[in-house]
Amino acid sequence: MQSWIPFVPESASTESGKVDAIYFYLSGVTVFFTLLIALAIIFFVIRYRRRSPHEVPRPIAGSHRLEMLWSVIPFVIAMSFFVWGAQIFFRNARPPTDALEVYVVGKQWMWKFQHTTGQREINELHVPVGRKIKLIMATEDVIHDVYIPAFRIKADVVPGKYTTEWFEATKPGRYHLFCAEYCGMNHSGMGGWIVVLEPTEFDNWLSGNAVSQTAASSGRQLFQTLGCAACHGANGEGGRGPALLKVFNSQVLLDSGQTVRGDESYIRESILNPQAKIAAGYGPIMPTFQGVVNEEQMIQLMAYLKSMGSSPASAPGTAGAAPSPEPQKPPTRAMPK
Ligand code: CUA
Repeated sequence: MQSWIPFVPESASTESGKVDAIYFYLSGVTVFFTLLIALAIIFFVIRYRRRSPHEVPRPIAGSHRLEMLWSVIPFVIAMSFFVWGAQIFFRNARPPTDALEVYVVGKQWMWKFQHTTGQREINELHVPVGRKIKLIMATEDVIHDVYIPAFRIKADVVPGKYTTEWFEATKPGRYHLFCAEYCGMNHSGMGGWIVVLEPTEFDNWLSGNAVSQTAASSGRQLFQTLGCAACHGANGEGGRGPALLKVFNSQVLLDSGQTVRGDESYIRESILNPQAKIAAGYGPIMPTFQGVVNEEQMIQLMAYLKSMGSSPASAPGTAGAAPSPEPQKPPTRAMPK
């Protein structure tokens, strides 16, 4: 269903109405003042036109009251844009913690998706209606941008880091996905569809596309074949390298005395550039996996690490950075259903 206003895309997420509201407010204020000023110009041109070649206008002394008025009113209006816009921006920039996670890899010129349950898709993403979905996005080459107009979300996918965006679809349907960052010859063709299904249909889709391995179990396999287990322990319990149990989202104490959060970006950096940040108590012995691990494998390793449990971000101490006090604890599955 198209909006009654021309060029406005369909509205199909919990946030799209809020984005539209501020957009219409902004447009409304702009149109109002454009007309007001244009009409005032026309009125003044006619009313105060020079009527004879010798006419001398009355001198104007100025008015503090008038100047205050036309400074304060625009200030209040501009601040209303800022405060309202900032609220929407912050809510959209911070994915909710209870969201279903989907990994996205951009590549010239396609979108690859991977569900935590292991299903993979290209240029099409199936999601359930009424669930918060968090996209964790990486790129294999240049900057791309995930843009879903019907959900009013848009975020760059930048080399060397993870970016995120989230949405909650409000009605089933097929919604266009675009790349919104010029990325070379076939940029305009780099797109796809978000397919929003009823929860039961989504479950059917998941089981109809059942895969032998979840992202985490593929990651576990990689962990063995890449030789990570030799230093980090067969189950991530640690050894010559730091323990990885519950390292995700924990506060990691570094050699330098600094503490960093063990988030996706830290883990990615530790795999590709291990010397950048060394966990306290360990030597700089880990080789780089740059060029060995591609973005999709990185996602699987990340999923495996997350499946070993994560600490709440506020947890004090150095869980996982130093050899874990209870290394025998089996890895816990912490994957959303
Ligand atoms: Cu990818 Cu434009």
